[in-house]
Amino acid sequence: MADALAAGGELTDEAWRAALLAVPRHLFVPCTAWADPDDAPGYLIDRENDPDTWLKAAYADHAIITQFDDGATKITEGPGRYTSSLSAPGVVVDFLELLDADSHDRVLEIGTGPGWTAGLLSHRVGAEGVTSVEIDQEVHATAVANLASAGRRPYLVLGDGVRGWPGNAPYDRVHVTCGVREVPYEWVRQTRAGGVIALPWMPRYEPGYQLRLSVSSDGAASGNFTGFAGYMLLRSQRAASPPTFDGEFRYRSAEIAPVTIFAAGYGADVAVAGMIPDLAVSVDREDDYQAWLWAGDSKAYVSGSQVAEAGARGLWGEVERAFLRWVGWGSPELSRFGLCVMPGGQYVWVDSRDNPVRMPGR
Ligand SMILES: C[S@@+](CC[C@H](N)C(=O)[O-])C[C@H]1O[C@@H](n2cnc3c(N)ncnc32)[C@H](O)[C@@H]1O
Repeated sequence: MADALAAGGELTDEAWRAALLAVPRHLFVPCTAWADPDDAPGYLIDRENDPDTWLKAAYADHAIITQFDDGATKITEGPGRYTSSLSAPGVVVDFLELLDADSHDRVLEIGTGPGWTAGLLSHRVGAEGVTSVEIDQEVHATAVANLASAGRRPYLVLGDGVRGWPGNAPYDRVHVTCGVREVPYEWVRQTRAGGVIALPWMPRYEPGYQLRLSVSSDGAASGNFTGFAGYMLLRSQRAASPPTFDGEFRYRSAEIAPVTIFAAGYGADVAVAGMIPDLAVSVDREDDYQAWLWAGDSKAYVSGSQVAEAGARGLWGEVERAFLRWVGWGSPELSRFGLCVMPGGQYVWVDSRDNPVRMPGR
């Protein structure tokens, strides 16, 4: 697995290779689980009935889903909504290298899951430097047992990671392994100046992004987006369902077709997400980029040149205007955007934190 990750470019640091070799992933995979390859349908793995497939999946670049629906649906009766997992090794290593933790650093992990990442971190920086918070009681108990069987004893907390864990602060690094819409300022407060927070930022407007924030002495945390990332959201920040709406829809032709906007790339996506932070979107990229949008009590549907909008706001019109602003800036790519987190909230910027991305009038 380490060789495959090195060949794929995710693993470049020998210290993380050593951690992969020292903390065997199969010790964290339950007897029955759901393997979730990126490029193929998921499948059940069962150590008793088919040990070869189980072991192969443990060392493939697959996420291994260990919980559906917060435990309400059994793994053998799934799939259900994914709520806990061992993240795919390629994603784990990519994030760990981005975090750039050093020996003896103090690291806070949010979302212990089955504990594999906490085990890797314990090898890299020393278990006494690692604190990991998990919100689900059963998942937490399993992580305690898994890590003990791997001979690692980081400080494991059952609690809501949104609050961080002030007891062991300040941290040099905060590693977040669940998707985050609003970055809790507590994480910044608990990180020393010069420290780093790596997280998957997942705005309501799809998709999600890998983000590396550096904490500065003025109390802000800011940094660039470094790629794409899709994770399970923090429990308290999970998506609300679209609003039900009985009012009249207004119909019109699109000024800009959805394919133009949704196929323009991550730079356009993150710019729109930054300009309209309360806007949620779900896009069917397989079916002509038809999309559903909602924010507050407004919603919209767009398909080809047809737009239907309801509520006080014309949501597709807002997206069209935001997209045209991005085009007007010369269509900057994702790497030129970043996020800044301050005590009062967060904002997306382009090129520098002094240049927030905003819609006029908002
Ligand atoms: C993708 S899994 C974590 C992967 C894991 N770190 C690994 O080693 O592969 C995400 C975990 O975050 C947990 N989680 C969700 N919301 C949380 C919160 N508010 N605080 C702490 N943990 C949370 C979930 O229960 C789940 O176990």
